[in-house]
Amino acid sequence: MELIYQGKTKDVYSLKDGNYLLKFKDDVTGEDGVFDPGANTVGLQMEGAGQAGLRLTKYFFEILQANDLPTHYVDADIDKAEMIVQSAKMFGKGLEVICRYRAVGSFLRRYGMYAEEGQSLDGFVEVTLKDDDRQDPPISADALDMLGILSLAEYEEMKDLTIKISGIVKEELAKKGIELFDIKLEFGRTGKDKKITLIDEISGGNMRAYKDGVYIEPLELERLIVSE
Ligand SMILES: Nc1ncnc2c1ncn2[C@@H]1O[C@H](COP(=O)(O)OP(=O)(O)OP(=O)(O)O)[C@@H](O)[C@H]1O
Ligand SMILES: [Mg+2]
Repeated sequence: MELIYQGKTKDVYSLKDGNYLLKFKDDVTGEDGVFDPGANTVGLQMEGAGQAGLRLTKYFFEILQANDLPTHYVDADIDKAEMIVQSAKMFGKGLEVICRYRAVGSFLRRYGMYAEEGQSLDGFVEVTLKDDDRQDPPISADALDMLGILSLAEYEEMKDLTIKISGIVKEELAKKGIELFDIKLEFGRTGKDKKITLIDEISGGNMRAYKDGVYIEPLELERLIVSE
């Protein structure tokens, strides 16, 4: 296999059959040793974070597949912290799709003049460009279309998938008395028909979840959802 990309929390290898292998690392995004799912830097290392992230990802992707939602998931080896996925073509150089149920994080930093912390947002969807140099700027559907990154019809399809997928994750957390505040997803095009597909991961590292008003760290979230 061939290393094609070293990300902040995962390394990506291409396999002979055309699939990719994602190697989950123990690196976690954040700043000054404090975890932040929205951060663009590796802030800290947590032993077991890679395996925990993969375990949660496998858990959610299998539920999504059972619900006929398109994901890149093929197989996972938790001990090795490796996941096999269908290779995907990115929209531009990659997008992040955020679904928000409560106002926290960058939403509050941007719109704090109008929004109150923790205010209900009812599954609000927004898209940002994966562009670390420009701090992942938010982008509208019209701009995505105009810049040739994604057509308006594709945007609607991706938004619809985001609402369904995030809703399922929210429901799963709710079964354990945990509330999902926000979640970040990634999509790409897979297969000959270039189908819009959920890629990357779904773990504690890309969502904010709270129990009894207290934020739950990624490793703790994995323990509450998968191990208990
Ligand atoms: N099925 C797939 N096909 C192609 N690329 C994928 C697929 N799944 C995930 N990726 C990409 O693999 C990379 C994994 O790296 P990692 O999660 O460390 O993120 P990153 O690029 O450093 O940035 P970020 O922290 O913003 O996610 C990401 O760039 C992600 O978009
Ligand atoms: Mg990532």
